[in-house]
Amino acid sequence: MRKTRWRSSSKHIRSSRSSLKWFASWREGFLKGNSHTFRLDGKLAVVTGAASGIGRAVAQRFAASGACVRLLDIDEKAADAVASEIRATGGNAKAYGCDVSQPSAVNATFNKILEDGDLHILINNAGISHVGNLESTTEEDFDKVFSVNVKGIYNCMCASVAHMKANGGGIIVNMASIAGTSGLADRFAYSMSKGAVVAMTYSVAKDYLGHKIRCNCISPARVHTPFVDGFLHRNYPGKEQEMFEKLEKSQPIGRMAQPEEIAALALFLCSDEASFITGSDYPIDGGFLNLRG
Ligand SMILES: NC(=O)c1ccc[n+]([C@@H]2O[C@H](COP(=O)([O-])OP(=O)(O)OC[C@H]3O[C@@H](n4cnc5c(N)ncnc54)[C@H](O)[C@@H]3O)[C@@H](O)[C@H]2O)c1
Repeated sequence: MRKTRWRSSSKHIRSSRSSLKWFASWREGFLKGNSHTFRLDGKLAVVTGAASGIGRAVAQRFAASGACVRLLDIDEKAADAVASEIRATGGNAKAYGCDVSQPSAVNATFNKILEDGDLHILINNAGISHVGNLESTTEEDFDKVFSVNVKGIYNCMCASVAHMKANGGGIIVNMASIAGTSGLADRFAYSMSKGAVVAMTYSVAKDYLGHKIRCNCISPARVHTPFVDGFLHRNYPGKEQEMFEKLEKSQPIGRMAQPEEIAALALFLCSDEASFITGSDYPIDGGFLNLRG
């Protein structure tokens, strides 16, 4: 028993020393003002739901920060268009049509992506919305939301962690929502799914600490994307503008976020500067959770 303890603590000391060495060199550059903050040079990053909104902004920002980005979306044509935009500005991007709720499609897509090199970053962003309370949510609605928002993330993490483990680590960021931790009206299935995203994040962060896989999630309040426009169009036809303004005012900061503001947080969480952060849920909400008094 004593011997085992000594062995593991000696291993721990060795790994602490190498972390300290890395930190010392990073700090030296930082203090000299020549550090390349929030860079992802040489990293291969998969972004799901990258054809639109937040995922598109993440893919664009990551590519501009040096990453090779691989865009997954059920809408292959739209993902292709985003990848072309990125390549036109000098970035490295490829698009894949993939329904994240289908394990066989996810595995086949990741196998193709891994031919390009080691996977460093996974952004699980693809998600769908649903409006309804417990009684008005059908079993079909429930299963659909769960299959994309929860099983989609599970499928992509399953396709990635073995490679990350073999490569000495990786970074996962899951897109949750403030709906996962606060009570919103008529969001039964959606809130349930986002609560599961937060729980999955903590579970994976804990189980893969020893494999140097950092796993965090981001919980935005309302962000102005096609997700919101589609929601207003479907649920409030003819009253879109009025409802848009109401939604803006429901956030203490007085507006919705822009997708690029969410992408900036994702970039930080995937950068070396966030090396001490794992197992956290980051609200990015214009004061929604704490400032509504
Ligand atoms: N916009 C908001 O206000 C807001 C707030 C909190 C959380 N979120 C979350 O952020 C994420 C992105 O939202 P957005 O606003 O950018 O949405 P969006 O609708 O603009 O983009 C979502 C993308 O996911 C893709 N997608 C949907 N189902 C898919 C599937 N089965 N497989 C692969 N791709 C699929 C869509 O084609 C689309 O390109 C979602 O998970 C959403 O729940 C959004």
